[in-house]
Formats: sequence, structure tokens, C-alpha cells
Amino acid sequence: MRMGKFITLEGVEGVGKTTNLNFIANYLTSNDKDIITTREPGGTAIAEKIRGLLLEHHTEKLCNEAELLLMFAARAQHLEQVIKPALAAGKWVVCDRFTDATYAYQGGGRDFKMADIHWFEDFVQKGLSPDTTVLLDLPVEVGLKRAAGRSEPDRFEAEKKTFFNNVRQVYLDRAKAEPNRFCLIDASENIEQVQKNIQCYLDKILTDE
Ligand code: TMP
Repeated sequence: MRMGKFITLEGVEGVGKTTNLNFIANYLTSNDKDIITTREPGGTAIAEKIRGLLLEHHTEKLCNEAELLLMFAARAQHLEQVIKPALAAGKWVVCDRFTDATYAYQGGGRDFKMADIHWFEDFVQKGLSPDTTVLLDLPVEVGLKRAAGRSEPDRFEAEKKTFFNNVRQVYLDRAKAEPNRFCLIDASENIEQVQKNIQCYLDKILTDE
């Protein structure tokens, strides 16, 4: 049985996910929702170890197939240990990235067939998917400039601009294909406006409940 709501936050590097995840969490809490925040890849002890494998640089090249499988391995663990129990307990789960990121990064960035990703999505999630996805959108150059210098680039951040342009395009295509689930936010606006727009959308979800 699933009672809580599942909200995910997506976007290319530098769009402001962390700040806005905190904003969403605080806003829902102030509206009396019992929430947990979590992230992918990660969210459990084992899944965080897998995150390390995925984000760190290795002397041996991590092949794309292994990368895709590790994303779903971490997700399976996260769903079982954290997401499903929280939703069943009536909590709202606010998650920094989920399977839309796999379509965008492994599908758009690494060129896997969307149908193959879909197969793994069904196998691991068995129909469980986000109720709402907030997509923060920004031109890639702006995002990369914002993200630059924060820390040493990880394995994904070290990718080229074309990789991120492909990632962004898949996100936008998915938002267009599922307008009821996606809340598309122009992240190039100032932070007050961005959060006002997110809040408008959250208010709709809160009144529809
Ligand atoms: P972040 O959580 O700090 O944004 O870092 C996670 C990185 O992992 C980010 O570059 C996107 C990438 N990623 C994928 O490639 N596929 C996925 O399915 C997920 C969840 C993340």
C-alpha cells in the first residue's frame, strides 16, 4: 500500500538542485507533511558505496554497461530500504534525482536505447514511479559555469559539453511527453522567482490531495 507522495528533482549540473531541494523540503514540512529527503545514486549505506564507484575516477575505465547496471543496483537497494517503506508509512519522499536521470545521462549521454532502460525500470521499480518531477532547466554553459570550481570534477562532471546538451535534451523531451508529472522550471531566473514558481506547483499538489 502506498500513501505518501514521491517527488523527484532533476536537472543538469549547476541548476541549483540542492538549494531547491531544501526549499521544497521546508515548504512541505511547513504544510504539515511528514517528509524525508534522499538522493540517487545513494540513499542507503550500500547504495552510497555504489555512488562512490560511479562518481570516482578509476584507473580502469568503468564501462557504460556496468555504469547503467550500477545505477539500477543502487536504485533497487534504495527503493527497498528507504523509498517504499517511507511511502507506505505515509511519508512524502523528496529525492534528488531518480530514473529520469538514467534516461537523460545513460540514454542521452551514453547513447543507450531508451527501450533497454525501460526494461530495467520495469524490472527494478515494478510500476513505482514519481508522482511529481521538478525539472530545473538551464542552458548547459550557464550550469557548467555555476558548477565549476565547487570541487574537483567527478566522473560525470568531467564529461564534455555535448554530453550535457544531450542530457538536457532528453530531460526536456521527457517533460514534454509527460506534462502532468513534470513541473518544468526555468532555472535561469533569479532564485526568488524560481522558488515562487516551484511553490505555485507545490500548492496545486497540496490542494489536490
Ligand atoms: P549529483 O547527485 O551530485 O548530481 O551527482 C550524481 C551524478 O550521477 C550526476 O552527474 C548524474 C549522474 N546520474 C546518472 O548518470 N544516472 C542516474 O540514474 C543518476 C541517478 C545520476
